[in-house]
Amino acid sequence: MAEPLYLRARVEGEAAALLAEPELVHSLVDALESPLNVVLPEQAAANAEEFGAVLGRHRLKGRVLFAHKASASSALLRRLADTAAGVDVASLGELQHALGCGFTPDRITATGPKSPQFLWLAARSGVTVAVDSAEELDLLAGLLRGHALPRCRTMLRLSGFTAPGVRVRSRLSRFGIPVAALEDTLDRVVRYGDVLDLVGVAYHLDTTSLTEKATALEGCLRALTACRDRELSPGIVDIGGGFGISYLAHREDWDTYTSALSAAALGTRPALAWGGHGYGLRNDKGTLRGSLALYPSWRPAAGAHYLDELLSAPSSAQLGGRPLAALALEHLYDVHAEPGRALLDQCGLTLATVQEVRRPPDGGADLWVRLAAKADDIALEEHGVLLDPVLLPRPGTSEAADPGPYGTGPYGADSYGAGSYGRGPVAVHLFGHLCLETDLITRRLVHLPRAPRPGDVLAFANTAAYCMDFHAGRSQRHPAARKVALWRSGGSWKWCLDEAYWPTVHKGEPQ
Ligand SMILES: Cc1ncc(COP(=O)(O)O)c(C=O)c1O
Repeated sequence: MAEPLYLRARVEGEAAALLAEPELVHSLVDALESPLNVVLPEQAAANAEEFGAVLGRHRLKGRVLFAHKASASSALLRRLADTAAGVDVASLGELQHALGCGFTPDRITATGPKSPQFLWLAARSGVTVAVDSAEELDLLAGLLRGHALPRCRTMLRLSGFTAPGVRVRSRLSRFGIPVAALEDTLDRVVRYGDVLDLVGVAYHLDTTSLTEKATALEGCLRALTACRDRELSPGIVDIGGGFGISYLAHREDWDTYTSALSAAALGTRPALAWGGHGYGLRNDKGTLRGSLALYPSWRPAAGAHYLDELLSAPSSAQLGGRPLAALALEHLYDVHAEPGRALLDQCGLTLATVQEVRRPPDGGADLWVRLAAKADDIALEEHGVLLDPVLLPRPGTSEAADPGPYGTGPYGADSYGAGSYGRGPVAVHLFGHLCLETDLITRRLVHLPRAPRPGDVLAFANTAAYCMDFHAGRSQRHPAARKVALWRSGGSWKWCLDEAYWPTVHKGEPQ
């Protein structure tokens, strides 16, 4: 076989500790069926603390709000309710869930597209509303007046920022009020002063670009000054989410794989994916065209580090080039951040049993591996994320007994040990169990350190954000994956169903 192309998952913290317990993992899947989602509430609490510590290092007051949309888990939300974090809700259901999980209204911000019902409950319960458009501002003010509701803590979500002196606008967004329309919007805010209390301005950009985000943050600081000129006194800048996860353990894996994808698109090496799929790259008469339609699975800075870099980024020359955090501090502005994906880094895994392993009919060297799960249960690829699953041989088999890549010590990315394990690495296609040609867990040919066997478990790391919940359904009446929360207590692992988890259960208090 040609040199294996690994995309080794970065597995750390609670997730790494769990994968070092293959007997437990297998017993959970045996009891609760494949696919099984595992969430790790302690990791979420630790991540929230790490984000909060970054604000602290910049001496900023503010709040880390978990963007609820990233996960449907009650356990994660309830654990976060037991920390200093807040929550950003983007639907009526999320708001109800957040209130029911213990978040008080002062820790909740309502964002995104809003129905009248969502707006009414947000206003009635006293949460902060980040208004998305002038139309929504009118609707909110009308509701507040019509139902004699208390004055509503309101933020303006802005978009369309331009760097001073540069004629490049940030990319077009469906969301937010264009900064160019700020003055008109402030006229409205002043008019609705009896019912609206303007507490801040906000942005959320769906980009990994630090420069675009720094431009937006500076734009928001300028907007706050414009508000003060109108004798409004908002004091919060909400910088949204998008801090990201670095999914891979090794940069070389990503560089090697993406170079190989280009070569495959140009036809200078065999295809790397089912049906010659090129993940956005194509060959146009010998020239590479298109762009990689993938999430950058390896990122130089992600999560709390990315927040740190953003806050440390220099402002434009007009504002003296001083770090953005220093400008916010100088005006005593609170900084709110809304990480979704990044707050759930290492907070969950999806486990799937290997159901069948066969040789392809064309006699090719790769193996066809069918899992007891469908692509929608493990939607990493749907979100553009490519990473290898971790193979956990069935305990009691000779593979499990062999001190191979996962057999000794805590699970670590380097333990893949290419070529050193048993019969060595294999290339596999991972199929789902739907009766559908397109049910591919990933289109990519995946390299594993050894051949999987029926009954083995593949653990897909880092699925808690978006991947485990966004697409899960019950196609062909296959059961939806169950979800369990796991945590360590007194040297052993404890678990319960996601919906049964409360911070009291965790503390071992009698229920
Ligand atoms: C307003 C808002 N805040 C936060 C987020 C979370 O983004 P991420 O999961 O990339 O951190 C989103 C995602 O769509 C959003 O729309």
